[in-house]
Amino acid sequence: MTTEHVSFTVNNVERAVEVSGSETLLDTLRDQLGLRGSKEGCLEGECGACTVLLDSRPIDSCIYPTAACAGREVRTVEGVAQLDAPSLLQQAMVRSGSVQCGFCTPGFVMSLTALLERESNPDREAIANAISGNICRCTGYTQIIEAVEAVVAEYASSNTAQEAQA
Ligand code: FES
Ligand code: FES
Repeated sequence: MTTEHVSFTVNNVERAVEVSGSETLLDTLRDQLGLRGSKEGCLEGECGACTVLLDSRPIDSCIYPTAACAGREVRTVEGVAQLDAPSLLQQAMVRSGSVQCGFCTPGFVMSLTALLERESNPDREAIANAISGNICRCTGYTQIIEAVEAVVAEYASSNTAQEAQA
């Protein structure tokens, strides 16, 4: 089998792997790099459990060839925060009851992290659009949307506090 050498950045660390032309980014992350936070769900680009950010945009890593990531920047859920210091979004998702079985959670975290990095005050429609490629079988989505709204409210109150101090 012919293999290809691919160098790319994963969670701010330069990585180099040998892959077959068809190896998916999800397989490379989980099996070669030991990053198992991205989940194997449908493996057909439908459920979003495998969502990672490629150059800051969410992609389904189960259908994305690793070879196409050469020279690019990948971020996985392991790169969003430390285990003992979850991001504001992760904290809000736990508080709101968005994490039930948790299988879908890494994918939602990645889609919503990308949203909050490009928009600090998304409305419900923007939030729903951002998670339109992520499926959750447990929550009914309301708690997930409420978690994002809680983060947006935290941003707003910390901005107000900073303005008051200025
Ligand atoms: S596992 Fe990739 S979209 Fe479902
Ligand atoms: S929390 Fe179970 S699938 Fe989303």
